[in-house]
Amino acid sequence: MPATKDNIITLPDKQLRQRSQKVNVVTDEVRQVIADMKAATLDWEAHRPHELGVALAAVQINKPLKIIVVRNDFEDKNDKSFHVFINPNITKFEGPMEDDYEGCLSVTDVYGKVPRYSKIRMRALNENGEPIRVRAEGFLARIIQHEVDHTAGVMFVDHIENNPEAFYKLTDEGKLEKLDYEQVRSTGVFRD
Ligand code: NI
Repeated sequence: MPATKDNIITLPDKQLRQRSQKVNVVTDEVRQVIADMKAATLDWEAHRPHELGVALAAVQINKPLKIIVVRNDFEDKNDKSFHVFINPNITKFEGPMEDDYEGCLSVTDVYGKVPRYSKIRMRALNENGEPIRVRAEGFLARIIQHEVDHTAGVMFVDHIENNPEAFYKLTDEGKLEKLDYEQVRSTGVFRD
């Protein structure tokens, strides 16, 4: 059975706050986790009319391994291919910091304006276990920072939990609107 959106865990599930383990060898089990991550992301997207399933970390399907998958094309839903980064490590953060909107497949119906570095450099292994280096800026840099956070048990809401003005919801028409801070609190997305 391929993984579905129902394999994705969401806050306040505490499993999301754990640190993921390093992958030593790309085994069949690791390859299965990667296939499940892609399938779960695409199934989630199939149920969301206004959003693209941009990326996922393995911990989000409750497999706490340092693996992230990132969509190749953020604009085109028909391109269902992903980059795979194993043991991702951001080696350089470069400014300026920029605020922009983020959502997360593990944070249901809450969006935020999150400060991130505008450029990063990352080292990782690819799907074949070969070392790679990545330089990213803009939206891709943002996504990579968000996903690498997941491998350390950090959620995007943690960056803005003291900023009541930073929260948004998506309307039925697919537009972002301010979300009341008390309403956000009541969803249990913040750390205890
Ligand atoms: Ni996320």
